[in-house]
Amino acid sequence: MADTKKLFIKTYGCQMNVYDSERMAEAMGGAGYETTDTVDDADMILLNTCHIREKAAEKVYSELGRFKGLKAEKPDLKIGVAGCVAQAEGEEIMRRQPMVDLVVGPQAYHRLPEMEAKAQAGEKALDTDFPEEDKFEKLKRRPRAKRGPTAFLTVQEGCDKFCAFCVVPYTRGAEVSRPVDRILTEARDLVERGVREITLLGQNVNAYHGAGADGDWSLARLIWELDKVDGLERIRFTTSHPNDMMDDLIEAHGTCQKLMPYLHLPVQSGSDKILKRMNRNHDRDSYLKLIERIREARPDILLSGDFIVGFPEETEADFQDTMDLIEDVKYGQAFSFKYSTRPGTPAAERALVDDAEATDRLYRLQGLITQQQREIQDSMVGREVSVLFERAGRFEGQMMGKSEYLHAVHVADCKAEIGELAKVRIVESRTNSLAGKLI
Ligand code: 5AD
Ligand code: SF4
Repeated sequence: MADTKKLFIKTYGCQMNVYDSERMAEAMGGAGYETTDTVDDADMILLNTCHIREKAAEKVYSELGRFKGLKAEKPDLKIGVAGCVAQAEGEEIMRRQPMVDLVVGPQAYHRLPEMEAKAQAGEKALDTDFPEEDKFEKLKRRPRAKRGPTAFLTVQEGCDKFCAFCVVPYTRGAEVSRPVDRILTEARDLVERGVREITLLGQNVNAYHGAGADGDWSLARLIWELDKVDGLERIRFTTSHPNDMMDDLIEAHGTCQKLMPYLHLPVQSGSDKILKRMNRNHDRDSYLKLIERIREARPDILLSGDFIVGFPEETEADFQDTMDLIEDVKYGQAFSFKYSTRPGTPAAERALVDDAEATDRLYRLQGLITQQQREIQDSMVGREVSVLFERAGRFEGQMMGKSEYLHAVHVADCKAEIGELAKVRIVESRTNSLAGKLI
């Protein structure tokens, strides 16, 4: 088609942004755009931004600065900023980078095609509303496009928890759950298009309470309904808050075959004092008891977490409490960050921990996590796992997939095809992956 235009999307941040970018690409597909992997041949560049940590806005401004030359060469090129920086900065973006044509917040991107039309007419388009309508319903899908075996599906957005360090309640807004029937329709559609594994997404996914025919459904109930979808083999969900880990969800981890034994359950800190100051509304002990109950339901579950070090007023003793908690829990995976001030959040007013000290804590914590990760990964050697093959490996005949524990597994001389689920014996633990043989 002669008038197909090209859209380049760069995605920052979390999995929800990855999902949002896919949906924006699909919506723009309806407006005559196809995606491209290179900026040079793009007719439109969209940065889908993240605001969670450190100088996010500054990074976006400098990235935009790099497009100046391109825009000068190609005056018709449209440049847009989406995501949480768009939400937080709004008009300021166009003031500082006048070449930006379009700024769209995470709750308004179903209006992207209209905004693009406006930009084509030479006007600036800005939308950072939190509209009433369901953006997912309004988004055009490209019908029946084949897809890979794994997919994200957003079921819940926003957060009402207001952790003292976090911008999410401000950028993504209040907690909203999508209705059950829409999620099921989308899941069935994904499966028809080749998807075998769905990861349910939400900033607070286990707080899910979407409308079903007979009232609000819990996440566990939604998972059980998805369990009935033929052709769907695996279900995951992320990210969860400890206080929303309900009994039925814990139980599902023990009884639902399709629910994978992997749980991302951030605790942020192991110090009761810091947890209180973070406004987490749980303490160390309640988290540890929760982990115990989850492990009772599913003994082999692999746990993952998020940690912040150097939160205001964190002392060395508080940090040691975090290290002790990690020793107790044993994580198979974790993401750790040095606290960074987010303007507008309650913690932003507080005195910072010495930066060198915070950096040192981060390294020590990451050292411990790496060690635990290694031990758990090494303990997989000799075990039989199931692998969902996602793509060809780097070497001839090699395939790569993920185990139920989300470990990357490489199989040499592999006869399995993409999208196939197969039993694999793990034979070696490498730096960031496992090697196995088909059974
Ligand atoms: N500073 C550092 N880390 C943060 N996170 C969220 N906000 C901040 C901040 N201001 C981390 C938390 C959260 C993860 C997604 O990002 O650990 O769980
Ligand atoms: Fe942010 Fe806390 Fe909500 Fe997670 S639970 S999104 S850290 S406010």
